[in-house]
Amino acid sequence: MVCGVVRRERCVKVPLRQAEQALRLLRARNLVVKGLKVRRTGDYLLIPLACSAGNAVTLLREHQVSAEPCEELFEETTLGKTFKDYLKGKIPEGLLESIPSSYDIVGDIAIIQLPEEALRYGDVIAEAIMCVAKNVKSVYAAGPVEGEYRVRKLIHLGGERRTETIHKEYGVLIRVDVGKTYYNPSLSEEHRRVASLVSEGEDVADLFCGVGPFTLHIITTRKARVFAVDINPYAIKCLIESLELNSKKIKGKAVPVMGDVRDFLAVVAPASFDRVIMNLPHVAVNFIGEVLGKVKPAGYLHVYAVARSADEAKDAVMNAVPGDSRVVIFNVTRVLDYAPRKFIYRVDVKMR
Ligand SMILES: C[S@@+](CC[C@H](N)C(=O)[O-])C[C@H]1O[C@@H](n2cnc3c(N)ncnc32)[C@H](O)[C@@H]1O
Repeated sequence: MVCGVVRRERCVKVPLRQAEQALRLLRARNLVVKGLKVRRTGDYLLIPLACSAGNAVTLLREHQVSAEPCEELFEETTLGKTFKDYLKGKIPEGLLESIPSSYDIVGDIAIIQLPEEALRYGDVIAEAIMCVAKNVKSVYAAGPVEGEYRVRKLIHLGGERRTETIHKEYGVLIRVDVGKTYYNPSLSEEHRRVASLVSEGEDVADLFCGVGPFTLHIITTRKARVFAVDINPYAIKCLIESLELNSKKIKGKAVPVMGDVRDFLAVVAPASFDRVIMNLPHVAVNFIGEVLGKVKPAGYLHVYAVARSADEAKDAVMNAVPGDSRVVIFNVTRVLDYAPRKFIYRVDVKMR
C-alpha cells in the first residue's frame, strides 16, 4: 500500500550535512510545501518548494548552502490520518465501521481486536496500520486470552512473522513474546504506581509476575529485593533478558523463580515479605490464605480481582480470609475495564 498520495513538485537538492540549515532558512520564510515529506537520496536531501526553485537556490547560496534546483516526486505525510482513513474504498463501508479505531502496540508489534468478517481483509488492515504507525513491523489480530499462562491467541495479519519484541514503559525496557507470554500495555501506569509504593530495602514477592513489569519498575527505581514468580518458562526467560537490557539502571535485585506460586510459598519462611503483589485477577484470591503467613506484620498485599464494583472486589478478598483480623483493606482502585460492567480492581491490604 502506498501510504500517502505521491505528487511531482519543484524542489531544491542540498547536501545532508547542510540540510538542517537549509530547512531552517526555507521554513522561516514559508517556502517549504506543507504536508509533503522531504526525501533523502544518497548524500542529499530533496526539499519540496512553495516558490520557484531559482529563488530558493539563490537564497540558500547567499547563506553558503550549496543547492541545486530539481523536480521530483514527493509523498504526502500521514500526519493527522488514521489507519481507517487508509481503508476507505478498500473494504466494505459497513465492515469498516465495525473495526475499532484503536489497537495495542507492544514494542514494534500491533495487536488489534477484529470482528470475524474483517479477518479476510487482514493484509490491508495490517498495511494501513503500518502506514500510520511507522515503528510497527508486525500486525496481529487478537483472539481470546487462554490457559494457565494467560496467553492471547494471535492471528498474523501482515508484516514480519515475529512475536518477540522489546516494549518500553516509562523508560523501562521489557522483553515480551506476545505469542508465548501475557503482557498488557494498558497496565503500564499501574506497574509504575505500585512500584512507587515500595520503600527502599523492602523484600517484595511479585507473584504471577508474567514478564516482570512490576519487578522491573521496582528494581530500576529503588534498592528493593523482588522475588518474581511465574509458572510460564517463557515469561521468566523474558524477565531474565530484561534484567540484562536494563542492567545500567538497576538499583535493587530481582530473583526470578520459575514455578507454581504454591510450591514457592511452601518453601518460603513465615513473615518473609514486606509486600506481596498478586496479579492474576481471576484466581489470585484463592491464594491469599497461603500468602498471609508470608507477609511481615504491617506489611502490604496488593490483590487484583475481577468484579462489578469496588465493594464486590473488597468482599472477594474478605471472603477468602473469613474472620482473619490481621487483614485490613485500606484502598480499592479500579484499574482496567474487563468486560461489559466488569472491571479489574486492585485491593490494597495492610497486615495488622
Ligand atoms: C495476568 S498475568 C501476569 C501479569 C503480570 N503481573 C503483568 O502485570 O504483566 C498472570 C500470570 O500468572 C501466571 N500463572 C498462572 N498460574 C500460576 C501459578 N499457579 N503459579 C505461578 N504463575 C502462575 C501466568 O503464567 C501469567 O504469566
